[in-house]
Amino acid sequence: MFQPSPWRADFPAIAALQRQHQTYLDNAATTQKPQALLDALAHYYQHGAANVHRAQHLPGALATQAFEASREKVAQWLNAASPSQVIFTHGATSALNLLAYGLQGQFQAGDEIAVSALEHHANLLPWQQLALRAGLKLVVLPLTAAGLIDLEAARQLIGPRTRLLAVSQLSNVLGAWQPLEALLALAKAHGALTVVDGAQGVVHGRHDVQRLGCDFYVFSSHKLYGPDGVGVLYGRSEALGKLAHWQFGGEMVHVADYHSASFHPAPLGFEAGTPPVAGVIGLGATLDYLASLDQAAVIAHEQALHGLLLRGLHDREGVRLLGEPKLALASFVVEGVHNADLAHLLTEQGIAVRAGHHCAMPLLKGLGLAGAIRVSLGLYNDSDDLQRFFEALDKALEMLR
Ligand SMILES: Cc1ncc(COP(=O)(O)O)c(C=O)c1O
Repeated sequence: MFQPSPWRADFPAIAALQRQHQTYLDNAATTQKPQALLDALAHYYQHGAANVHRAQHLPGALATQAFEASREKVAQWLNAASPSQVIFTHGATSALNLLAYGLQGQFQAGDEIAVSALEHHANLLPWQQLALRAGLKLVVLPLTAAGLIDLEAARQLIGPRTRLLAVSQLSNVLGAWQPLEALLALAKAHGALTVVDGAQGVVHGRHDVQRLGCDFYVFSSHKLYGPDGVGVLYGRSEALGKLAHWQFGGEMVHVADYHSASFHPAPLGFEAGTPPVAGVIGLGATLDYLASLDQAAVIAHEQALHGLLLRGLHDREGVRLLGEPKLALASFVVEGVHNADLAHLLTEQGIAVRAGHHCAMPLLKGLGLAGAIRVSLGLYNDSDDLQRFFEALDKALEMLR
């Protein structure tokens, strides 16, 4: 059954890619951009770029106004209690590194940090390196066969020594919502700080950070149909108060002398240097666009397409899914076929999917795999895209077997 996307025409790159015979199914890596974002970027650059928070002139005032309006839009999108809880970074990775440096003073040698076995390198390596720097223990929470963080095991492993829990909301490889409510409750019962990597989760549906109850939540704009080079670190005010400044320079300083300085609190104190002004304004425009869509219709469309994807994969002999993906993506391997060979043949047929370890090497290794193919969906994909993918897959498998 044809499953059209009512939003496809809002994303000019999709038609452009189609003219180049490309079917884009790598949305978990990054997304195409809506016209509303392109218009906002063109408007900003065509009407006068300016730095924010420092110039008294009109372009500076307008840029600052638009920049701070975006902060409010992000706060609204996440239902943060205040825009001052939103720090702009350069991406989820830089937000997580900011946390791993900024929180270092909160830990003592022997303290434990818990992550899960499915984390993207961005939510593993900053904590691993912090543990190595500060003599902490990194505890890795194992997974169930369905690819969920194992709550039974977590109950054994999270305890009074746990000072921080950092977990993904939605795995970029396994595509399942993690049992965050129970995990966060467990960590909080022991007084640990909680960090949620929302890089994949934020794209699907609306999420309420207050209801989630995490201390910190991070995401990258480019995966949410926004510009690249921009990320968000949300923090509860009390948790933000625990962060030490970690990058120093313009704008974050209150008073500076040759031998000492004092710094602004969050958010400005954590936005040293010139921020990605156009990108932040563009993220605001993207959120305006997304907020104008019927959220229930978007979710229903994504689920219908995901169902088609799963059925198609199940129907093909030798295809093995990783975990039990519930939405947005599916990773798979094919018996007797190397994922790099398959990816090569898919690429040759204009199918843009991702192959390899998906920046989660320990997870793939734990599954006994060197790599897998991942198909990930965006709101502009339709069933014709999947049909082209399956035709290309069948052709490739015929050649490889
Ligand atoms: C779950 C997850 N966390 C973090 C990241 C890092 O995002 P970025 O590279 O935009 O910083 C990604 C990117 O793929 C991801 O999928």
